[in-house]
Amino acid sequence: MVTIVINGVRREVQSPADTPLLYVLRNDLDLSGPQFGCGLAQCGSCSVLLDGKEIRSCITPLSAASGKEVTTLEGLPARWAQQKGLSKADAAKTIHPVQQAWIEEQTPLCGFCQNGMMIKATELLERVAKPTVAEIKEAFTTSGPSPHLCRCGSYPRIRRAILRATELIQGAKK
Ligand code: FES
Ligand code: FES
Repeated sequence: MVTIVINGVRREVQSPADTPLLYVLRNDLDLSGPQFGCGLAQCGSCSVLLDGKEIRSCITPLSAASGKEVTTLEGLPARWAQQKGLSKADAAKTIHPVQQAWIEEQTPLCGFCQNGMMIKATELLERVAKPTVAEIKEAFTTSGPSPHLCRCGSYPRIRRAILRATELIQGAKK
């Protein structure tokens, strides 16, 4: 049995310790945000945050998450609410600025890759308050094990959404 904290909730998982974290999230914990794309750390669709850092859950064994905090797409609103110190009532009504920006910019096309895109954007914006376009490109291409791939070519929309999320986060700080 492995204990992990998923989206702020402590969970005991019965799967073998070498099970890919992605399988645990989707099959054992019913978290369908992370997607199975390549299974080889080559596309980014399975990304989650592990102690705030983006990882590819398809190649990460469950044991690597033991005692650590995993945040999935489903956990972004609670992550934001905690960072902002929102009350329980306000937290229940909030979504993460990255998700809000994705909606405003109508970013997804087929949507399959967008879990990883929003996770990566969240990681970036927690690290860099106002990223330049060059920093955005770097984050999504050379900073991880592989570029985040979108077969539909939504890259310009993703870039616009990140710039919009930056504005939303800055506005929320006022
Ligand atoms: S499914 Fe994990 S990187 Fe592609
Ligand atoms: S929106 Fe279709 S793969 Fe990215």
